[in-house]
Amino acid sequence: MNELDDALQALVPVGVCASAAVVAEVVGPVAFAEEGQHLVNAVSARRNEFIGGRRCARAALADLGQAAVALPADADGVPVWPSGVLGSISHSRGLCCAVAANAAVLAGLGLDLEKTNRLSSRAMERVVHAAEAAFVGESQRFGSLLFSAKEAFFKAQYPVWGAQPNFKDLAFQIDSTNQALAVVEVADYLPETLRTAATRMQFRYRFFGDYVVTLCWLMRP
Ligand SMILES: CC(C)(COP(=O)(O)OP(=O)(O)OC[C@H]1O[C@@H](n2cnc3c(N)ncnc32)[C@H](O)[C@@H]1OP(=O)(O)O)[C@@H](O)C(=O)NCCC(=O)NCCS
Repeated sequence: MNELDDALQALVPVGVCASAAVVAEVVGPVAFAEEGQHLVNAVSARRNEFIGGRRCARAALADLGQAAVALPADADGVPVWPSGVLGSISHSRGLCCAVAANAAVLAGLGLDLEKTNRLSSRAMERVVHAAEAAFVGESQRFGSLLFSAKEAFFKAQYPVWGAQPNFKDLAFQIDSTNQALAVVEVADYLPETLRTAATRMQFRYRFFGDYVVTLCWLMRP
């Protein structure tokens, strides 16, 4: 968990607050009744990751100077953040994390945590764009990084554009030296404003253990 904390602190730009935790195996009820509506019929593992993610989100909000409030999910499962705040939550195999920032500063924010040893070669084929293939080769680690970066992009754009892009609608260049990525291709059919925003979005990643965590953010012009 400390490794995830360190990775997050290395990723976030000024003004973005981050928090990480281990997903508890046994946790109590949701902190706010309205959050529970999203968990009807959820198995306990799912409840626990949801509750862990909400705890991280409220810790990130507290660092931002925000009171602890309910963060219900909308009909699409997107957390409803307090007015004037952007945030993102991710969980993977026992770990969870969240980021929050002032919406006056950022126009988009997405966080994604993934294991680096689970992507099948078939899934790799679905995720890796032709423009990324030479760099990635057979590397499950880099394939997982691209998966994570594309999920982070998805989360950053969805609350604004509501687009449903496929993994191959976006191609990244990976900058291993700076542990960053840049969008180099975006599918033509996506809205023009999203295509422009995608090329302005910033991406940083960190590998730790057998995880990768990626942050995507878009500064307001
Ligand atoms: C929604 C999605 C991005 C979640 O990613 P994931 O790796 O499966 O799961 P994570 O744990 O990282 O993230 C889940 C959290 O994302 C948030 N989330 C869910 N849907 C979201 C959306 N549409 N937009 C933004 N955030 C969303 C929620 O906080 C959720 O956790 P919670 O339900 O406990 O609150 C993913 O399931 C998905 O549908 N992806 C679409 C395909 C895609 O990413 N294409 C990439 C194209 S470039």
